[in-house]
Amino acid sequence: MIQEFNHIEKVRGELSLPGDKSISHRAVIFSAMADGVSEIANLSDGEDVNSTITCLKSIGAEIERVARSVKVRGRGFKNFTKPSSPLNAGNSGTTSRLLSGLLAPQNFDSEIFGDDSLSKRPMDRVIHPLKLMGAVIESTGNGTLPMKIFPPEKFIPIDYYLPVASAQVKSAVLIAALHCDGITSVMDKYQTRDHTERMLNLKTSSISVADGKEKVIYSSKENYPVPSSYFVPSDISTASFFIVLTLLLKNSELKLTNVCLNETRTGILKILKEMGGNIEIQNEKESNGELFGDLIVRSSKLKNVEIKNETIPNIIDEIPILSVAGLFAESAFQIQNAKELRKKESDRIKSLCYNYRLLGLNIDETPDGFAISGEIKNLSPIFECFDDHRIAMAFLILSMLLKEGAKMNKFECVSISNPNFISQLKRIIG
Ligand code: S3P
Repeated sequence: MIQEFNHIEKVRGELSLPGDKSISHRAVIFSAMADGVSEIANLSDGEDVNSTITCLKSIGAEIERVARSVKVRGRGFKNFTKPSSPLNAGNSGTTSRLLSGLLAPQNFDSEIFGDDSLSKRPMDRVIHPLKLMGAVIESTGNGTLPMKIFPPEKFIPIDYYLPVASAQVKSAVLIAALHCDGITSVMDKYQTRDHTERMLNLKTSSISVADGKEKVIYSSKENYPVPSSYFVPSDISTASFFIVLTLLLKNSELKLTNVCLNETRTGILKILKEMGGNIEIQNEKESNGELFGDLIVRSSKLKNVEIKNETIPNIIDEIPILSVAGLFAESAFQIQNAKELRKKESDRIKSLCYNYRLLGLNIDETPDGFAISGEIKNLSPIFECFDDHRIAMAFLILSMLLKEGAKMNKFECVSISNPNFISQLKRIIG
């Protein structure tokens, strides 16, 4: 369906956004693993987290949800049951990869499949380390879903050097390691998001290497989760769309409460502040090892800054909306060293370049990034979402900033991370 979005003048008010998607997946998975009842407040209401819930119910976890609050009766160590049909991870990379780490050590067969987008994304990155641990996994595609998982003969700890900047791969190995007597270590030189190690309270250390420091995380049966109460801070990736909109509009001010401020996720705030963004943090608190606080965002004049290579894993989900901020900022926006963007819900480099070209801008697309130059010439584009929620939300924000507004095709995919995006926007439009 093609939908039209009009230009808006300003935003004002306060929003309490749903829980962080990454933390929500982990809170439900760890609760389902624990032996007893856990409670989760402010869980993400997106379809991705629902996919994780549905899969965990299919292997015996009891999960009751009332709005953003959830009660989980977990199964305890290796007490899950064989699912009666293949598990549907939908569009969710986190569901498929984290659950592969949970299912690999179990004593029953299982199968994971996904939608068209997820079926194209690489799963060999989790299959390889899990096989080193003894997992028996068959990818019926070419290193992609569907993937069949069989009971292993033995399941052993490994020392694993993360070859890609992926918190999902890291987490799959750390979760699988919770089923081994010995200690598994994962070396993460990329400093990917660290929710798994924080929420499981895993031991970490830092080692010096020629080009800086490397983080090592240790996981074993000793760290198997126990029943807990979780509060999930609001999603900083979701918040970024509202932050950029507020910064770019005149006479605007917005308060976003209880936003996740984990330092492996706040690269977007750092860059927007370097660009001149007026973002104030108030009322910082901590829960389950995760820092969060209120953000006060005010209209600002932005200028583009250099985006350093080592920052990329920290802002990987925010690059679509960061490029929108960059488009309206002084001097040209460019990003490189971000080839992982091609492996997301869509090939995000291609999706972004396609939509920016529709505006008549000059786009220099490279294998690992792109640069934008020139002026907006076409004011009546029909943006494509490529079934990618973050592309849809980024270009909806851009549409609201264009003088004439713009049209978008298949905007509904926003529900993957934030089904109430439009109603939240309506609440703050002044
Ligand atoms: C996530 C890790 C990142 C991120 C994704 C969520 C997670 O993916 O892009 O949205 O919850 O661990 P990769 O692990 O593929 O980098």
